[in-house]
Amino acid sequence: MSTLALTTAREVFDLLREDLAAVERELGRDAISSVSTITEIAQYLREGGGKRIRPTLLLLAARSLGYRDAGMFRLGAVVELVHTATLVHDDIIDAADTRRGRPSANTTWGNEKCVLAGDWLYMQAFRNALEERNFKILDLLIGLTQQMVEGELLQIEKLGRFIDESEYYDLIYRKTACLFSVSMQLGACLADADPIQEDALSQYGRSVGLAFQIVDDVLDLTATEEVLGKPVASDLREGKTTLPVIHALAHGTREEQNALRQVLVDGGFTRVTPAEVQQILLRNGSVDYALAAAARFAEQARTALGVLEESEYKRALMSLPDLVVERNH
Ligand code: IPE
Ligand code: IPE
Ligand code: MG
Ligand code: MG
Repeated sequence: MSTLALTTAREVFDLLREDLAAVERELGRDAISSVSTITEIAQYLREGGGKRIRPTLLLLAARSLGYRDAGMFRLGAVVELVHTATLVHDDIIDAADTRRGRPSANTTWGNEKCVLAGDWLYMQAFRNALEERNFKILDLLIGLTQQMVEGELLQIEKLGRFIDESEYYDLIYRKTACLFSVSMQLGACLADADPIQEDALSQYGRSVGLAFQIVDDVLDLTATEEVLGKPVASDLREGKTTLPVIHALAHGTREEQNALRQVLVDGGFTRVTPAEVQQILLRNGSVDYALAAAARFAEQARTALGVLEESEYKRALMSLPDLVVERNH
């Protein structure tokens, strides 16, 4: 066993290569319905790829506690299916036209069919989870799904309005970090972790998830669509106030604040350009502020791993928070 840190995403991926391949096989079986439109949409989404970060978390949680059975492949597919269902619904809600570098499913099949395909994917996830015959697993997944739906709904209600940091963190916990946390907990649950270990891994997932969404929000403002595989500068256009913008609204000049409010209220860059917004954020150090917050959550995540014994899986978990913060897509 190597004593070196797993410092690149490639090394983490190599460690889990066979496990992730087993999750992919599960996902392949899960994307088949007796109704061909659903199979087409489900296959299209699966082929689109994605980083598979949620199954990665679940596998690392289970493996780091010594678990070796096939349940982790099934549940790895379950968390990816839940994620996929939320993306299908999210792209309808956000009227997004690109996902994973390809036309989003709603663009190709339309909203009506995609709402139903998303529902079907949720239920496919629950059907598979049920195979574990474990009420705790269902309990976790039901709580999670309700949090995610509540998060999306609260976000709609706050569109175009200023939100403060505590509202922002509540939203990103529900829509993103909760699934990261539950992925870790499910892995712990399979491995029969004690409550202290389970709680620590859940905290780890929460911290990594918060860091992940903060970085996602920064990338929306700084990346290109080509690299990201989804539309950029879309949060402001959709009226979403994210952490860098919250910071600039609190620290910018009156003129800068007005410009940002204008974009949020207009729901578009009709009177202020994306380049002007970027300048405002840069002048106020708002992107660095958000990245520093993400780095703090990464540190919190690593601290939570004190309960684990040394292993290559623990080392992968130690390096994952930084990989999340340093990612460019
Ligand atoms: C996208 O998640 C939705 C967010 C929580 C920001 P990912 O960035 O993990 O999406 P894929 O699965 O890699 O496409
Ligand atoms: C995250 O919401 C998606 C869900 C967790 C439902 P966003 O709308 O911020 O994510 P992207 O930017 O479309 O991936
Ligand atoms: Mg979206
Ligand atoms: Mg959204």
